[in-house]
Amino acid sequence: MSPGTILVTGGAGYVGSHFVARLDDDGQRYVVLDNLSRGCAEFAPRGRLVTADIADETLVERLCREEGVDVAVHFAAYAYVGESVSEPQRYYENNVVNTIALLRALRRAGVGNIVFSSSCATYGEPPSGESIVESTLQQPVNPYGRSKLMVEQILADYEAAYGLRSIALRYFNAAGASERHALYEQHDPETHLIPLAIDAALGSRSLEVYGNDYPTPDGTCVRDYIHVDDLADAHVRAVDRLRRGGDPLRANLGIGRGASVLEVIAAVEAAAGASVRYRFGPRRSGDPPALVANPQLAQRELGWQPRYRKLDDIVRTALLGYRRAHG
Ligand SMILES: NC(=O)c1ccc[n+]([C@@H]2O[C@H](COP(=O)([O-])OP(=O)(O)OC[C@H]3O[C@@H](n4cnc5c(N)ncnc54)[C@H](O)[C@@H]3O)[C@@H](O)[C@H]2O)c1
Repeated sequence: MSPGTILVTGGAGYVGSHFVARLDDDGQRYVVLDNLSRGCAEFAPRGRLVTADIADETLVERLCREEGVDVAVHFAAYAYVGESVSEPQRYYENNVVNTIALLRALRRAGVGNIVFSSSCATYGEPPSGESIVESTLQQPVNPYGRSKLMVEQILADYEAAYGLRSIALRYFNAAGASERHALYEQHDPETHLIPLAIDAALGSRSLEVYGNDYPTPDGTCVRDYIHVDDLADAHVRAVDRLRRGGDPLRANLGIGRGASVLEVIAAVEAAAGASVRYRFGPRRSGDPPALVANPQLAQRELGWQPRYRKLDDIVRTALLGYRRAHG
């Protein structure tokens, strides 16, 4: 039997649009559901975007039946840590309550599989010095991370009670842009380091580096940057696993190596051929010194290997994306 259609929620966003481009390359059937509260309509191929909210249960149920959806890949969410602290209600409503509505519609339509965008934010501030494995205690320190952990828990309960099979992929720091498709990272406001550093090299902004007294080699925070196309590849493999009847999974997606803020700045300066205007500011609360994935479980269970292993390569593609976005 040929596979059904993939429902991609949030497919007009940064990570979701890269997954959609990969589905196009592979010739897979999909439909994008995005309310365009964030994200970009042009990122979703014409005719494949349904502009609606995941909470519209009637529409989602009908869409799934009409399109023959067999798997949902659920990117749609709000994803700014700072905003989640000042507006927790919006985060719990959109990321948790609206996800429950989506799950209800999926169940009614008989969709039995879901891949969920989780986050390293579910780990909170893990003990420093070690890379993070999936069994590391999940103790999120902000509403965004808590909303992601709640959905992971809801999915586990739905799996046990209703047989809705799920894979939650815990991304570390998504970065870069497609080398072939006209996509790029766009968040408003932008909070991610690489696009901010590029803008501080080529645009008008300057960059504030939060803290230079962390217990890391150069005193700045260390993060694990994973290319969006490598995230897309992991999602394709997760969909295949569910379709083949494989077991549920919770897995980290990172390259397994960290880069400090100063290393990112140096990589951006080398790629852009311009210096990054930055200054040191105080630490931000809730920023752990280092967050580095141990990605072995995803490698073993999904047969996944990140192709972009060097920060310089990731930054080079981010610069391509920046140039696309800024003409
Ligand atoms: N970018 C990262 O570094 C990162 C890291 C870990 C996890 N994640 C998760 O990955 C997912 C995608 O992140 P992103 O960076 O692409 O974000 P994004 O904001 O670019 O994309 C999210 C998309 O979801 C849509 N959306 C939001 N609420 C919706 C709703 N109720 N109904 C329909 N559409 C809705 C938005 O319009 C947007 O297009 C999110 O779930 C995020 O929490 C991202």
